Amino acid sequence: MCGIIAYTGRQQAAPILIEALKTLEYRGYDSAGIAVAAEKGMNTAKVAGRVEALASSVKKRDVRGTTGIGHTRWATHGGVTDRNAHPHVSTDGSMAIVHNGIVENYLELKAGLVARGYRFASDTDSEVIVHMMDGFMKDGDNLETALRKTARMIRGAAAIVALATDDPGKVVGLRLGNAGGLVCGFGDGQNLLASDLLALLPHTNRVAYLESGEVAIATRTGLSFIDLEGRAVNKQEIVVERTREAAARGKFPHFMAKEIAEQPQAATACLRQRIDFERGRIELPELKLTAGEVRKLRQVVLIGMGTSLHAAMAGAHAIEAIARIPARAENASEFRYREPVIGPETLVVAVTQSGETADTLAAMDEARRRSARQFAVTEVDGSQATRIADATLLLRAGQEIGVASTKTMTCSMVVLTLLALYLGRLRGELAPDRERAAVEQLAALPRLLSAMTELEDGYRTLAERIKSTDHLLYLGRGPLFPLALEGALKMKEIAYIHAEGYPAGEMKHGFIALISDRVPTIVLAPRNGLYEKMLSNVNEVKARGGEVIAILTEGDEGIAKIVDHALYVPDAPELIQPMLSLVPMQLLAYHVAVGLNRDPDKPRNLAKTVTVE
Ligand code: F6R
Repeated sequence: MCGIIAYTGRQQAAPILIEALKTLEYRGYDSAGIAVAAEKGMNTAKVAGRVEALASSVKKRDVRGTTGIGHTRWATHGGVTDRNAHPHVSTDGSMAIVHNGIVENYLELKAGLVARGYRFASDTDSEVIVHMMDGFMKDGDNLETALRKTARMIRGAAAIVALATDDPGKVVGLRLGNAGGLVCGFGDGQNLLASDLLALLPHTNRVAYLESGEVAIATRTGLSFIDLEGRAVNKQEIVVERTREAAARGKFPHFMAKEIAEQPQAATACLRQRIDFERGRIELPELKLTAGEVRKLRQVVLIGMGTSLHAAMAGAHAIEAIARIPARAENASEFRYREPVIGPETLVVAVTQSGETADTLAAMDEARRRSARQFAVTEVDGSQATRIADATLLLRAGQEIGVASTKTMTCSMVVLTLLALYLGRLRGELAPDRERAAVEQLAALPRLLSAMTELEDGYRTLAERIKSTDHLLYLGRGPLFPLALEGALKMKEIAYIHAEGYPAGEMKHGFIALISDRVPTIVLAPRNGLYEKMLSNVNEVKARGGEVIAILTEGDEGIAKIVDHALYVPDAPELIQPMLSLVPMQLLAYHVAVGLNRDPDKPRNLAKTVTVE
């Protein structure tokens, strides 16, 4: 949530900040703003709405200066208005801050500041920070000391950057807890801070990540670091390999459509070098696991949120079925607040495409405190999840711009299936011939996915039919139940249609009361060991006058005959059915959203990376 950028150097800051905000916009798009320090005071521009609107507003005015900060907001406290947009500026205009996170004790801090005569210009929690820092600076502190002292008074995870006209040519940044972090970029004659590596890549690939409780001090000539006591911190510069990928939609109308179509290539990249075709084996050397360690494991706990949780659920199914280790998936925000029974003989697998989701990171911290071994499954090398985990399995899906996750879910499921097979072999549960067969099945996945992402016309027609519905039910069983949840999530988040995913067997225990000709049911029923069970569910819905849309295996001649609409997946082994069944869930939601004129890339109220609880 919220994108942060800060620049100090020789160039005009405003265009650099605006370009960076465009890259960061996926983190929040409620409002955007910049503040640039100039000789005569602070130049600020902020607007409710997208970065484009900010760019037009900046063009019309003279926002000059070579040191500045910028922000894209995902609102927590205070409505989506110009005045609640960041940066927040002190009453005399001498300093400005932007903030990501929540100041949990802001009411108490605000009351104290109001009593001391401070006037508030917004309804946000963040504004207390600028007034507190301003107070310290008026007492004679420099910018970094004011930030350190403020940091010691606020509660909650936060990333903050600040600048002041009284301490010119400098920006400071702070990270407290897991609020999305800050990356510092070392440039030539310029230095930057950002919430996301991608925003730095046009300027430098030499970076350092702030740890919680660290403050970065950037001037044109250097970057230095201190802790909250003011002691110098030595940080190693890391040279990142990653280059900025062109975030272009190409021929596609939306990034989501492009990312759905990219799934065959994403799956190929994800499998590459992890499959040894000659030996018919899976190799995951990055995990540095021994057979002895795997045999000692008592359980695998997978954690994640949203789509990543659904991938984790499918992964838990595969791990338990193949490696025969008790495995379960848990919502990271629930996990962190109970007393989970985990320890050194538990493997925790955190699934998070961004590697920055606050609840997932907090759950990982909890697992670390309890000495569990941890793997991160993520797209972003260098993200906070990779730094907490003992080892990382990168998704290699390529940057996902659409707010709704698509290709990263496919890759998460592929990686977790590889992990299940790998654990199975090391534990002695997977015979070589079964592993070889699995390798061949996985190798066929990109080709089978290609066949599906090209078949869009049927989806468009069906989307026209269901776009006027108010409620949808998704049913799945076993490894396809998480796909029912994912189908419903996608429909809710991008088409804004109420949808519920149910384990098919649960339907009779409540939801059946809602079935009518106005509540279509989407049934995941490709040919597998549970096909006949799904046939019974379909009959039960039909018997109550419900309309059924079924996801079936090509050539199906059973369920196809009794349902109202059928969408097909290729005939494929059960190991890869979850990845194939995901595509119809995505395409249907996408076409319904487009049919309703919703923007699937930037759904209302959502942000790609949720860095607050
Ligand atoms: C849904 C979606 C979200 C994310 C969730 C976790 O389409 O994208 O539900 O899956 O916010 O994000 P990560 O995977 O970055 O931890």
